[in-house]
Amino acid sequence: MSEDFAAVQEIILAARRNLEQGPWDYLVGGSDSETTLRRNRLGFDRLAFRPRILVDVTKIDTSTTFLGHHLRIPVLFAPIGSLQTFTPEGGAAASKAAAEFGTVHVVSSATQPDLEVTAAATTAPKIFQLYVAGDEEWIKEILGRVVKAGYKALALTVDTAQYSRRERPILSRYTTASRRTPADPKWRAGLTWEIMDRIKEIAGLPFLLKGVQTPEDAAIAVQHGVDVIWVSNHGGRQLDHGQGSIEVLPEIVQAVAGKAAIVMDGGVQRGTDIIKALALGASAVAIGRLEGYGLAAAGVHGAVRVLEILEEEMRIAMGLMGVTSVSQLSPAYLTKAEPVTFPHEMSQFANLVEGQIR
Ligand code: FNR
Repeated sequence: MSEDFAAVQEIILAARRNLEQGPWDYLVGGSDSETTLRRNRLGFDRLAFRPRILVDVTKIDTSTTFLGHHLRIPVLFAPIGSLQTFTPEGGAAASKAAAEFGTVHVVSSATQPDLEVTAAATTAPKIFQLYVAGDEEWIKEILGRVVKAGYKALALTVDTAQYSRRERPILSRYTTASRRTPADPKWRAGLTWEIMDRIKEIAGLPFLLKGVQTPEDAAIAVQHGVDVIWVSNHGGRQLDHGQGSIEVLPEIVQAVAGKAAIVMDGGVQRGTDIIKALALGASAVAIGRLEGYGLAAAGVHGAVRVLEILEEEMRIAMGLMGVTSVSQLSPAYLTKAEPVTFPHEMSQFANLVEGQIR
């Protein structure tokens, strides 16, 4: 691939060309009126930088350490279900891209191929994301497989007590493979802190709780010994009319008070978004849709290109802010500002014309 993707918007356009309407709607859309989805962007757009000058930025380090793993940039691949819809190798392609670039893929329990196949696709560290779909015996069986396959940590997703109405795929009459044969919804609806404790204990792995949206729950999670609080509203795909993820981050950071690492996701589209989240106290961010666009555009290569572009954007912004390492970032580099764009799922890509991607 000599004439490479020069910007993420070219990757988005390629993804759009490669996907039928249904899978595209599934990837891009949110729930109901897509208010949470837009607020994820609005929250970032409401923050402006306060750069410092005359700092030697000849050497800039964008990397970090997360759960003991070196990340070339503080960006994880979020768990995405049905990745085989976007690229034939499915989850294995995302793992290969993460490994090639130098970050960690959080492998969805709702994607193909089997978790063992994805685990074997690379020797790089991977995290497994669980949706509970059975009783304790079921949980023991799947977690036994997860541990045996060598996953380094477990993420439990807890913002899906009900499956939401996502109107884009509903209107295009599209159902993903995992929704065509859904597990009994009672297992997700019945999840409690006690069951979470059992899952954590059975897994015996570093534990990430994905879908924390209030400081109250973050504080409870810390009491339960959760290693990573994952601030997320599922990319605006579950409860609508929630707050933007980046907006709730500061109060959650305060409630956690350094007792757990913090991941945030929702609306991260550029290097500057990553820097904003880190400045507010996140240890790392995760990207969902960008990962999907990369894979749909050009498989492993497309997903690696997304990460490379984010890295370049991060390095440039850090240099212009007088910051040489992500550990130097703090709220002092941010201030509130009026958004200049109407928030929507593509609002970071100013040169994308709406008609090109519908
Ligand atoms: C998701 N997400 C998700 N989360 C999860 O825990 N398990 C899953 O299987 C899925 N599946 C899934 C599919 C698709 C197509 C998307 C876009 C998202 C949510 C995902 O992990 C993450 O929280 C959001 O995608 C983050 O928001 P952005 O980066 O997409 O704005």
